[in-house]
Amino acid sequence: MCGIVGYIGKQKASHILLNGLKRMEYRGYDSAGWAMIENEKLNLLKNIGKVAHLDRLTPHDMINATVGIAHTRWATHGFPNHLNAHPHMDNSENIAVVHNGIIENYTALKTKLQKDGYYFNSDTDTEVLAVFIGAIYEKVQDLEKAVRIALSEIDGTFGIAVLSSYEPEKIICARHGSPMVLGIGDNEYIVASDAAAIIQHTNQVVYLNDKEMAIITRDGFVTKTIDNENTEPIIEEINFDLAQIEKGGFDHFMLKEIHEQPETVFNSFRGRLLADVGNVKLGGLNNMMDKLRKTKRIIITACGTSWHAGLVGEYMIEQMAQIPVEVEYASEFRYRNPIIGPDDVVFAISQSGETLDTLAAIKEARQKGATVIGIVNVVGSTIARETEAGVYIHAGPEIGVASTKAFTSQITVLSLIALLLGRMRNLSQPEGQAIAEAIMELPDKIRQVLATEKEIKAIAEKYYENKNFLYLGRGFNYPLALEGALKLKEISYIHAEGYPAAEMKHGPIALIDENMPVVFIATKDTIYDKVFSNIEEVKARKGKIIAIATEGDERIKKVADHVIYVPEVMPMLNPILSAVPLQLLAYHIALKLECDVDQPRNLAKSVTVE
Ligand code: G6P
Repeated sequence: MCGIVGYIGKQKASHILLNGLKRMEYRGYDSAGWAMIENEKLNLLKNIGKVAHLDRLTPHDMINATVGIAHTRWATHGFPNHLNAHPHMDNSENIAVVHNGIIENYTALKTKLQKDGYYFNSDTDTEVLAVFIGAIYEKVQDLEKAVRIALSEIDGTFGIAVLSSYEPEKIICARHGSPMVLGIGDNEYIVASDAAAIIQHTNQVVYLNDKEMAIITRDGFVTKTIDNENTEPIIEEINFDLAQIEKGGFDHFMLKEIHEQPETVFNSFRGRLLADVGNVKLGGLNNMMDKLRKTKRIIITACGTSWHAGLVGEYMIEQMAQIPVEVEYASEFRYRNPIIGPDDVVFAISQSGETLDTLAAIKEARQKGATVIGIVNVVGSTIARETEAGVYIHAGPEIGVASTKAFTSQITVLSLIALLLGRMRNLSQPEGQAIAEAIMELPDKIRQVLATEKEIKAIAEKYYENKNFLYLGRGFNYPLALEGALKLKEISYIHAEGYPAAEMKHGPIALIDENMPVVFIATKDTIYDKVFSNIEEVKARKGKIIAIATEGDERIKKVADHVIYVPEVMPMLNPILSAVPLQLLAYHIALKLECDVDQPRNLAKSVTVE
């Protein structure tokens, strides 16, 4: 949510900032802006809309500055208009601030500053911080000190970068709850909220910790806590390369990421399956084995698509390991005073590793003594660091705002965890071996599903003008119905509902007529016949049926208007295969509607606010 980038070095800052903003645009795209120092003067430029608008306003080649900060915004406080765009300045217009996060006590601070004669141009909490830093600077005449004092008095979360013409050879950045990474180049430094903005220039980075700040000049940097205690920076290497964050010949990141799934699912189980003994080895859980063996209850917490993966995980773990599992929206869990204690194990699932609600749920669970394990994609992210143990899903950078490959990788990792927990209990070695072998066959089967894209595109072309869609499934396919509907809503703005197929008759059936396309995930499993009856109920009411079915199922052709076949697979692994046609259907519908597939309106890739 929102992207920050800053540069100090020998190259033109505008070029690096613009590139960095483009790489982070998936984090927020309501407005963009930058501040640079040229001839010791602070120049600021911002504009509503995407990063490209900013460049059109003043071509970046015309700016010679070698130090600057920039921001791409996802609105929290105030409309996404020009005034509310970042950077924000203090009243002297000598200090510029870009900020991710939320300052909770900004109203009180604003009132106090107004009483002291300071004024505000925007509705944002960030401008309050900028004016506050400016007010302190007037007294202390030291930028670092002013930032430190201001940060010690604010409540909330922040990732910030500060630039000032008072001390023009310096960028100050700090974090608390919002990520901030410092890239170390050859006599140049790039600070950003996302390593994607840095990788083009260097792979050597320092991840700032909460309540830590960095003071960066052309000659070096120091890190310290915001209480002014020096800290020892740990230099790490970024674990992905530039090619992974580019489109690689595809029209959209989302399409590229859908097509990457044979490899990303493979990477999620690679080196982790012990096929000969039907078991799993997860290095990140080594010190958790005893706990996992003894636990009598599991809670899975997540948001959005990750929550849907969690639902599949619930079914898998209950089936394979017979441990009761509850799946909680992180945003509900954190405020509900949940009944949870030291015997419980919590799995927190997050692609970005930065979702604020999930982070808060983790803190709540830990506070109550539970063991918390992360299932995260982004290496080094806050959730990865806040959990006691974890399993990375290794899906690689996901740039499309609608999550695709992370979903299938999350389910793959959950299947490994379910297998591990099962083998600690009653699951036999032959059963474990069969599951391990089925997991290993997934990449090839996903390739077969991807080969049906043409048929899916034809279906999209037929139904893209419909105003409503229903997605139905049962058992392992029910969470998939939710995910299919979410994908369509997110990127095409068509109203879609996911429902357990049998529940349809308790309400949604009233919506069905000849204008309602109903997507059934009706693959072969123990309740296939029941789902088939649900299909007939829709057929009887003239609904249009798009069925995802198991290869060789000829019967379904008689009732469905369209059938997309997926290879036969163990039912619990079917969500990994059947997710793919649902993603492609949403993609091709959005494309026909000329929607912005990779950056759908109002959404953000990682939601670091409540
Ligand atoms: C946002 C994204 C979704 C994602 C959800 C949870 O809403 O747009 O795609 O599923 O956050 O994000 P996380 O990074 O925690 O998986």
